[in-house]
Amino acid sequence: MEIKTLGVVGAGQMGSGIAQVAAASGLSVLMSDISDEFVERGFSSIEGSLNRMVKKEKITDDDLKAILGKIEGSTSIDDMAKADFVVEAATEDEALKLEIFGNLEQYCREGVILASNTSSISITKIASATKRPERVIGMHFMNPVPLMKLVEVIRGLATSDETFRTTNDLALKLGKTPVPSRDFPGFIANRILMPMINEAIYALFEGVGTAEDIDQIMKLGMNHPMGPLALADLIGLDTCLAIMEVLHSGLGDDKYRPCPLLKKYVEAGWLGRKAGRGFYSYT
Ligand code: CAA
Repeated sequence: MEIKTLGVVGAGQMGSGIAQVAAASGLSVLMSDISDEFVERGFSSIEGSLNRMVKKEKITDDDLKAILGKIEGSTSIDDMAKADFVVEAATEDEALKLEIFGNLEQYCREGVILASNTSSISITKIASATKRPERVIGMHFMNPVPLMKLVEVIRGLATSDETFRTTNDLALKLGKTPVPSRDFPGFIANRILMPMINEAIYALFEGVGTAEDIDQIMKLGMNHPMGPLALADLIGLDTCLAIMEVLHSGLGDDKYRPCPLLKKYVEAGWLGRKAGRGFYSYT
């Protein structure tokens, strides 16, 4: 099936970023979320990102308008009936994802591939909510989506070779580099990244250093573009905690226990950049 219209479920930072790169690559995009407010927020984040590119003269004003014009907003998941390929990018919550995939199974045409942008949840489990597990796959984009090259492609137990090939081709069309991972908790990216971030939070919790010093050491000493605590704020502390919990329960090893300070910040609603406060303040 030729992919002309990409459905994106979720208009948050990942969903809006995926919608943006898909529209920029020439696809029509249907971006859905549960309320007009969330869809509008998705559009303004895309506009903000495109405006940065206009200022840097990477694209023109006409390109900006053309890209925005290729994205249609929606608040009902049954609109996904129009999509030729769907990427789900909702909150990192297993029950929610299972519900969404049950709905997608109902509304999407036969043969349509259903991909999840999950950062750690089992693709095999998500696929079990559908009657087409051979057409369910993980398509894990990195944040910020317009800038980051990688798409981790995760095959569930039943994912077919054809689904894997089509997903790789789509990632290439979006200007990304697909890299495969097997379906184990956290896949490859977060199996390695999140314990590092969690350890940085422990270093802060135990008073080994200030947030600024921990980040500065990792930036200057390891050549990371940003420190682990600033990166946690970018990803969202709720997402970091959800991923650590998947690693902890899925791998059953206490080395993956989430730091109590991370839990405390999430309880306080200090979720990072999107909340205006995390390890740093963004007001
Ligand atoms: N849209 C468009 N352009 C953007 C942008 C956006 N959202 N954000 C930044 N830019 C542009 C800037 O305009 C700037 O352009 P020029 O190079 O032309 O000047 C360029 O990108 C660099 O931006 P900044 O100067 O503001 O900041 P920076 O040099 O620190 O780069 C960064 C920003 C690319 C985010 C860099 O800090 C970085 O690579 N950080 C690490 C990101 C990372 O590790 N992401 C993975 C997170 S893990 C994940 O996503 C998976 C998961 O499941 C949790």
